[in-house]
Amino acid sequence: MKITVIGAGKVGSSVALNCSIRELGNILLLDIIEGLPQGEAMDINHQLAERGVDCNVRGSNNYEDMRGSDFVIVVAGIGRKPGMTRMDLLKTNAEIIKGVCNNIKSYARNSNIIVVTNPLDPLTYLVIKSLAGQRANMMGMGGMLDLSRFKEHISTVTGISRDSIQAMVISEHGENMLPLIRFSSLGGIPLTDFITTKQSEDLTDKTKKAAAEVISLKGATVYAPGNAVATMVESIVKNKKTILPVSALLEGEYGYSDVCIGVPCVIGSEGIEKIVELKLNEDEMKVFDLGVNSVKNAIKSVSM
Ligand code: 2OP
Repeated sequence: MKITVIGAGKVGSSVALNCSIRELGNILLLDIIEGLPQGEAMDINHQLAERGVDCNVRGSNNYEDMRGSDFVIVVAGIGRKPGMTRMDLLKTNAEIIKGVCNNIKSYARNSNIIVVTNPLDPLTYLVIKSLAGQRANMMGMGGMLDLSRFKEHISTVTGISRDSIQAMVISEHGENMLPLIRFSSLGGIPLTDFITTKQSEDLTDKTKKAAAEVISLKGATVYAPGNAVATMVESIVKNKKTILPVSALLEGEYGYSDVCIGVPCVIGSEGIEKIVELKLNEDEMKVFDLGVNSVKNAIKSVSM
């Protein structure tokens, strides 16, 4: 497999490290800053050499090098600064993504695309529309990251091993994120058997605020996003058919069309092989509706 990562900042480099250490393929790390992707690639290769992993990471400043990619991971763009929401990045990152799409069109049109740049859901939509691509092969990574945080908080509150947790987070990767307490379990036992209503509200709140908290402490989120992308790539490369929350283009599912939003999907060698439609209750649907409307408004505000 050839996995191209566009954007060699902290998150892009973490994606490269996480994909290569799992031996998912050779990585091309691309960035416009000269030296940065080459330096990151060297550093990662040194780690891989010691681990005996034969995947190679290469840095480049030349988009043409992405020819023949099986995957393109779009990480380019500016990141959130303390106090900013993901939506505050919309105008700037939409412009950057348009340029990135032109290069994907020229050199890697038929690859699987995973968008990581924020605001995640509107930009995933922008990429799909701009490449006129199949929704199965184009998705956004947001829910997987929110899920990592939800799992960590569930483990902290219940004192149960992280390994026993099955959970789901859907809707917008942003202010209207929806951690699904009702669809989460510990060793197959409903999460609601382990926690109080107050704890359930706290879990939701903490999951929503997790990224802002990390950003206020260390300036950026890095390791969890890289791992989340690698889990999505792995499910496709190994045809695992894992159910993962990803930002997908809806075509009637959940009552909506023409919008990208986080939903549970079966991810296998064909990409998004199925969108799983959960029976949401009224309160859950309210948050999901808010998420969809927020993404639709964002999409409307950027010219294509
Ligand atoms: C995150 O949730 C900032 O969207 C990024 O870590």
